[in-house]
Amino acid sequence: MKAPASIAQTQTNDLTDALSRYDLAEIKRFQKRTKQPQDTHLPGDTGWPVVGHIYPFLTDFHAWLNKQYHAYGPVFKFRTPFLNGVYLIGPEANKLVFQNEGKLFSNHMAWAPQFESLFDNNLLQRDFKDHKTHRKILQQAFKRPAVEGHIALMNPLLAEGINKLVSGKKIKSMDFIKRLLLNTGSEVFLGLKTGPEADKLNQAFTDIVSGGTDPFRRKEIWFSPYAKGVRGNKLIGRFILDNIEQCRNGSGKDMFTHLCNIRDEDGNLFSDEQVKDHLLFMLFAAHDTTTSAMSATMYALASNQAWQESLREEMFSLNKGSIEFEDLEKLEKTGWIFSESLRMYPAVHSMPRYALRDFEFNGHIIPAHTNVLVSALVTHYMPEYWSNPNEFDPQRFSPERAEDKKDFNQYIPFGGGAHKCLGLHFAQVQGKMFLFHLLKNYRITKDRKMTSYKYNNVPLTFPTDGLPLTFTRI
Ligand code: HEM
Repeated sequence: MKAPASIAQTQTNDLTDALSRYDLAEIKRFQKRTKQPQDTHLPGDTGWPVVGHIYPFLTDFHAWLNKQYHAYGPVFKFRTPFLNGVYLIGPEANKLVFQNEGKLFSNHMAWAPQFESLFDNNLLQRDFKDHKTHRKILQQAFKRPAVEGHIALMNPLLAEGINKLVSGKKIKSMDFIKRLLLNTGSEVFLGLKTGPEADKLNQAFTDIVSGGTDPFRRKEIWFSPYAKGVRGNKLIGRFILDNIEQCRNGSGKDMFTHLCNIRDEDGNLFSDEQVKDHLLFMLFAAHDTTTSAMSATMYALASNQAWQESLREEMFSLNKGSIEFEDLEKLEKTGWIFSESLRMYPAVHSMPRYALRDFEFNGHIIPAHTNVLVSALVTHYMPEYWSNPNEFDPQRFSPERAEDKKDFNQYIPFGGGAHKCLGLHFAQVQGKMFLFHLLKNYRITKDRKMTSYKYNNVPLTFPTDGLPLTFTRI
């Protein structure tokens, strides 16, 4: 039986309060009482018995999402053994979810189950007042002086790593990108130089990420990816806690030192546990997303030699051996390429939220407790907003054309609203630096028989063939 409206309303208000205070005990009590919402009245099919839509999710998610959108319109449900929910598609849907007027949606209720014991208490799973407080403090770690410090750390690491590419040899470039960003990340985020300890922590980090994709999530099965991930979390957590004292008094340029020394308006520092949780999540939020974005960009450059040459000219016109903060905005075309790659192959395919109350969208009543997802994938290809959307055309991001600006919510590779990616500029800086060192020294080519980018979007958008490319010294 449905609870009378006034009782349901009081419960929702109480949950919203608990989320605003980040009162985990109280939130858990609500989570236990949550029931599966009734969505039989909503468009969409339920896929195969028991497994629902898991097969297309894991094999060709983009094609499946397109198919459902064209069959059912901008609102449709989906089923998997691990998550049921409703997709809302298009800029209007993105606006509704990102603006989150009246605190209709919770991030915690949607994201926290996915991060449990791997990346607990992170920024993305915080809501309302509590989220605002943490985000305001963390923003300081992304201001210009901090970014200048990150650039100084990253420049030699990227240059050195790229210099190790063997000329003329075809390699799985995604593995290369992943490894290079992992090594760079351990110094830029954890303040740790390459060596056995960094290798151990990099492995622990990889285990945590794999743990997140284990659908069964049983800690007690010690050899399961999830159990390994939980152990990885403990290992990096211990490293961070053991080194906090030193970072609190340090003057390093790394993210760890920043998080140890940033303060709220009253001058308070993050607690040790908060530094640990935020830092671990930064590592996660930065790594696979940037690997995904750089893989897509590499494919784009290998397939479009004219653009590759044009970017190389842009790099050489700086007339420098390494990049500084002031140079970044001069690399205008490089920025367009990065944006266009993220339009066609957005690293994060969907963003989930949890509906705290019933609401109406496009003539449909979506019940409270529904997992609501918005996705960049369909929106980024809508012909109403993009000319020839299936074509790779970086120029669409030029100030003259500014196709991405027709609607504020049509281009969302970094999300939007209160939870918009905090590392957006960091990612762009890193991407530009990576390309600067690569294109000045190597030409990227692919086999002629490789005629399209082979990728899947789940969990994140990655090439399914490892992206075999050849790098030849110039
Ligand atoms: C190309 C690279 C990246 C992409 C595509 C990306 C994408 C995203 C997206 C889509 C969200 C929003 C998720 C949602 O609303 O549910 C997000 C949030 C976030 N990202 Fe990124 N990200 C990237 C790089 C980074 C980097 C380098 C960092 C840190 C150095 C970072 C830190 C964060 C954080 C902390 C949040 C949570 C923000 C909040 O909840 O207030 N990201 N990112």
